Amino acid sequence: MQSIIITGGAGFIGSHVVRLFVNKYPNYRIINVDKLTYAGNLANLEDIENAQNYRFVRADICDFDAMCALMWEEKVTGIIHLAAESHVDRSIKDPFTFARTNVMGTLSLLQAARLCWESLPEKYEGKRFYHISTDEVYGDLEITHPEGIKSPFADMAAPSGHNLAYGTDFFLESTPYDPHSPYSAAKAASDHFVRAFHDTYGMPTIVTNCSNNYGPYQFPEKLIPLFINNIRKRIPLPVYGKGENVRDWLYVEDHARAIDLIFHSGEVGETYNIGGFNEWKNIDLIKVIIATVDRLLGNPEGHSLDLITFVTDRAGHDLRYAIDSRKLQKELGWEPSLQFEEGIERTVRWYLDNQEWMDRITSGDYERYYEEMYNKR
Ligand code: NAD
Ligand code: DAU
Repeated sequence: MQSIIITGGAGFIGSHVVRLFVNKYPNYRIINVDKLTYAGNLANLEDIENAQNYRFVRADICDFDAMCALMWEEKVTGIIHLAAESHVDRSIKDPFTFARTNVMGTLSLLQAARLCWESLPEKYEGKRFYHISTDEVYGDLEITHPEGIKSPFADMAAPSGHNLAYGTDFFLESTPYDPHSPYSAAKAASDHFVRAFHDTYGMPTIVTNCSNNYGPYQFPEKLIPLFINNIRKRIPLPVYGKGENVRDWLYVEDHARAIDLIFHSGEVGETYNIGGFNEWKNIDLIKVIIATVDRLLGNPEGHSLDLITFVTDRAGHDLRYAIDSRKLQKELGWEPSLQFEEGIERTVRWYLDNQEWMDRITSGDYERYYEEMYNKR
């Protein structure tokens, strides 16, 4: 029997993790702690909201007293911490909010867990504090092969029609931290606090650093859902710079599976990188999205290519992310399950089939709708 707090469970990745744990572990108690910022959406969890083993608590992780009270009330044995401000562009406009939630919020949770667990007779035995971080803390990598070379990991990933790498360097667990955006700086600081609690107090922590996720329920400020929605509505697609930046994409359910595996079998004090072995230049990925949306909407081939609009680059735009997640594969046997082209098709279909979900968020009266929906609960 475990009693697990999952923070940020109403967000994109968190909702997939909550769903997986609620369905897979009927004997666990799953407590979703979420402030419901603009990015938190309880509609992401409608299918499990009445499950016996599930509780939603609307709370701010920065509220230390509330976190302490919940730790005691629910006799929490594990924390999977995803709550964060997550969008790089927002962090450039409003860095304070990112420092508050990502740094102070993480510290508040760590301290609440420490005070609770250290006062128990068994102390940290059987406990876990699992912090979800990002590959962006490592900074960025060079593009040494702009046309791409065969990825050295091509055989390890779920087979893809692509399998290219744009450089010969990859982020390892030992890569020194070098964050560039206020978002990644705040995530890096939170990672350091988590490790400091392990080293100083002996808290059983684990940190994972994952690459870009894609799939259903992602807030449409992020590249993939934003562009799918824009194509559907014939709105221009703002490609930053020349679209040459490279990201390593992983289907969100594969990330959730990795979190499950690492939470249960990962070694305390360790860091694991999680990646898709799947690098794409933005512009190539955007063309795949356009082709898929056009095909599924019955548009002629190339119909929406005219929407591509090159705009001013993001400030401090990281050039290339590419994860080496062989440690996770070797030690715990995890690998991505889904071929990328299949994942993108599934993702595009989901957004086209769930236009109501998208329209509510983008319609402008999202916050009012949202307050009403929350108050009904
Ligand atoms: P998201 O923005 O979709 O969701 C974040 C959730 O956290 C929302 O539900 C929001 O309401 C909640 N939240 C924000 N501030 C809070 C606070 N103060 N108290 C309680 N809840 C709060 O984010 P996401 O994309 O699902 O990312 C989840 C985590 O995974 C983040 O920690 C992020 O850094 C990390 N991550 C994301 C990706 C990615 O590609 N999206 C990749 C690697 C790591
Ligand atoms: O690498 C993991 C990170 O991936 C996570 O830690 C972040 O939370 C998550 O948001 C994501 O960060 P990115 O900045 O890589 O994701 P985003 O979807 O914002 O952008 C992907 C790429 O597309 C990036 O190179 C910027 C570019 N882009 C993005 C948007 C929103 C555009 O060209 N146009 C756009 O409108």
